[in-house]
Amino acid sequence: MSATDWWQRGIIYHVYPRSFQDSNADGVGDLGGIRRRLDYLGWLGIDALWISPIYPSPMADFGYDVSDYCDIDPLFGTLAEFDALVTAVKARGLKLVLDLVPNHTSDRHPWFVESRTSRHNSKRNWYIWRDPGPGGGAPNNWLSNFGGSAWEFDPATGQYYYHAFLKEQPDLNWRNREVRDAIYDVMRFWLERGVDGFRVDVIWHLMKDAWFRDNPPNPSYQQGRPEIERLLQLHSADQPEVHGVIAEMRRLIERYPGRVLIGEIYLPLDRLVKYYGEDLSGAHLPFNFQLIQAGWNTRTLASMIREYEAALPKGGWPNWVLGNHDQHRVATRIGPQQARVAAMLLLTLRGTPTLYYGDEIGMEDVPIPTASARDPWQLREPGLSVGRDPQRTPMQWDDSANAGFTTGIPWLPLSSNYAKCNVEKLAASEGSILRLYRHLIDLRHRFPALSTGGFRLLTEGGDILAYERFDENECFEVYLNLSREVQRLDEKVSSRAPREKRTLMLSTHGRGESDFHAPVRSLEGGEGVIYKMRR
Ligand code: GLC
Repeated sequence: MSATDWWQRGIIYHVYPRSFQDSNADGVGDLGGIRRRLDYLGWLGIDALWISPIYPSPMADFGYDVSDYCDIDPLFGTLAEFDALVTAVKARGLKLVLDLVPNHTSDRHPWFVESRTSRHNSKRNWYIWRDPGPGGGAPNNWLSNFGGSAWEFDPATGQYYYHAFLKEQPDLNWRNREVRDAIYDVMRFWLERGVDGFRVDVIWHLMKDAWFRDNPPNPSYQQGRPEIERLLQLHSADQPEVHGVIAEMRRLIERYPGRVLIGEIYLPLDRLVKYYGEDLSGAHLPFNFQLIQAGWNTRTLASMIREYEAALPKGGWPNWVLGNHDQHRVATRIGPQQARVAAMLLLTLRGTPTLYYGDEIGMEDVPIPTASARDPWQLREPGLSVGRDPQRTPMQWDDSANAGFTTGIPWLPLSSNYAKCNVEKLAASEGSILRLYRHLIDLRHRFPALSTGGFRLLTEGGDILAYERFDENECFEVYLNLSREVQRLDEKVSSRAPREKRTLMLSTHGRGESDFHAPVRSLEGGEGVIYKMRR
């Protein structure tokens, strides 16, 4: 593995296609819309786009229920439109990563339609069919991630099929060689079409316990939490055999130079890092969601970073994700002020950063009236705040009708603040979060120390998170004030360099040019700064 692969140096931008840009007035974003906005992504400076699923789908889970792996849903466009997008992306020197959903299909996928016709059908064993349990009822106690039993009875054939998500998303049987080969064909189909890699949906789910043993109860389950948390997912996911499957995917990917394999994995650190695989035979980037889950204070962040760095296998490349379509928006989780600090953290940490569309303009969760809720999880478990619609609302481009997202009726309501919070306005405003993101991305590209360089923590506690990034040419210090109060710098942090040797490169608070050579003695509440050390 060379130290300079694009997916190590680069910045990944996650597009939720339904909500990015509509180009045909149906209120849903599409491929033509993404193509229209590539100039913006070029201006922002990101390196790769990852697009959530665009395949034909009944949209029970908004594209994560695929009914044809080798085509484009008419909502999003056509294969010709996809090819045009690939060409346009490449012309700008960008990369395109597709979402691959191999754990389950739609129940309307021809494979499943066939599979359910009879117990003897040649595709029967492509899915997970089991007889009823001893007393009748479900074969075991496994729960769906969206609530309720994970087993659905099929009266026609008298068996249950397993679905880790909706009943409209039956799980494929990855112990079946034919299934593996069919999905590998799908991967080849898109790689040949020029995609630069895959983000593999729920990759840790691919293998289930061979004996279908019951999951044990979760002793720390709390009332009011989603039903899936009642049980520990001991047997239904993260089985040792999964690593063999991922190694197969990796070998396939390796035949196409420069492509990347990213895995979606929600697991504790010790199990997460296993997804790099033995001798790095697994995912290039097992997505690291700790910034989304961690408490926002110095002690927690510092120990999280230290433990993550320590847990990485030799040669394993780190990565950090700040938001995605399944999680509340960062500006809502930690507030608009700390969202700027988070941007600086994400873009100065060691490891590939992934940012979620709209976070760069400070978009917040949009409250969705019950009657407008679309997310199936929200509809199945109302009242638990599990709905994912609030973080999937349309991108805010300008202050025209529907924020320039669509001339039709948007599939989800827009934020009421879009007249103020939009790309056009923030791009023109000096101290905006968007300009901050662009500046951070630019710095990361200009100075390899910030992307591929080394990392050293300078603090363990207090209110300021501080660290160094360095390579043989440059050294930077990053100071992030995680509190609302002014903090004096030198009392708090033991820098190796004398203050006079620091040049201020960037502040989240947009200090003026005149400050750049004056040593900063204190940080405003919620301020982050990057210094470059003069030799
Ligand atoms: C992943 C996706 C999520 C989807 C689920 C089932 O977690 O990110 O949006 O609902 O898989 O495919």
